Amino acid sequence: MSCELNNQNLEVIKDADNYTQMWKELWSARDTAWHLTHRNPTLVKYEDLLLNGRKSVRMLFPMCGKVIDMKYFWEQGHEVYGADCAPEAVQDFFNEQKLEYTSEKLDERAQIYSVPDKRLNIIQTNFLTLDNPKINKTIDCVWDRGAFGTITEDEQKLYIQTMKRLLAPDFRYLLLVTEFDDKIWTGVPFSQPEEKVREYFGDFCEIQKLESKIPDHVSLYQKHMQAPLKVLETSYLLKPKNRSQA
Ligand SMILES: C[S@@+](CC[C@H](N)C(=O)[O-])C[C@H]1O[C@@H](n2cnc3c(N)ncnc32)[C@H](O)[C@@H]1O
Repeated sequence: MSCELNNQNLEVIKDADNYTQMWKELWSARDTAWHLTHRNPTLVKYEDLLLNGRKSVRMLFPMCGKVIDMKYFWEQGHEVYGADCAPEAVQDFFNEQKLEYTSEKLDERAQIYSVPDKRLNIIQTNFLTLDNPKINKTIDCVWDRGAFGTITEDEQKLYIQTMKRLLAPDFRYLLLVTEFDDKIWTGVPFSQPEEKVREYFGDFCEIQKLESKIPDHVSLYQKHMQAPLKVLETSYLLKPKNRSQA
């Protein structure tokens, strides 16, 4: 699968913007029930696997919302890039974390917001169109919770192409998705069984399933789904395929 942004892809991306509209509306109503006000326990648990001994990485939070873990990794000395389509996510993150920031145009599709030392950045853009020489092939680590698992299959295909553009050769990637009975709940988030993860990531990633469990914050999903559904959070560690174990 090519990861170039070409005319055919750009046509699909135009449609993908229809999907970001729903998120922008949720953000403008501050209807962000998915947001965790504490650090994500799975990321805390598997941080060492993600960093793989590295003291200074470039880390990506795709479709980041206002996740507070971004500030934590910046405080640890890493370089952080979040990406979200909603301007409110960006503003709320910097305001709630009491961080000074400036903004500039990254390219014709993206605006970048940064703290003064430029190591903590949020790019406001449609993530599926992110294609910039300053970032392509430079992302050492990814934390995805609530991105791949909350978009449609058309968008997921573009998400994979985007990731292929952005990842550095020796990346580490934590992917957290939800699994539940999708006859009971058919909306966002979508249930992502293991076969689906293997189908989408298997051609470029070595995939290690880390755990599958009902999270402490399961009520957050059940409230949204309006059903006492058994929701599992399943996490995976992804590494480049066919490379020696670094
Ligand atoms: C379920 S929330 C998860 C946010 C965050 N990852 C978290 O764990 O709290 C999904 C986020 O993806 C953003 N989003 C959805 N589609 C997007 C796209 N195509 N490009 C950029 N952001 C997108 C939404 O604005 C929203 O903040």
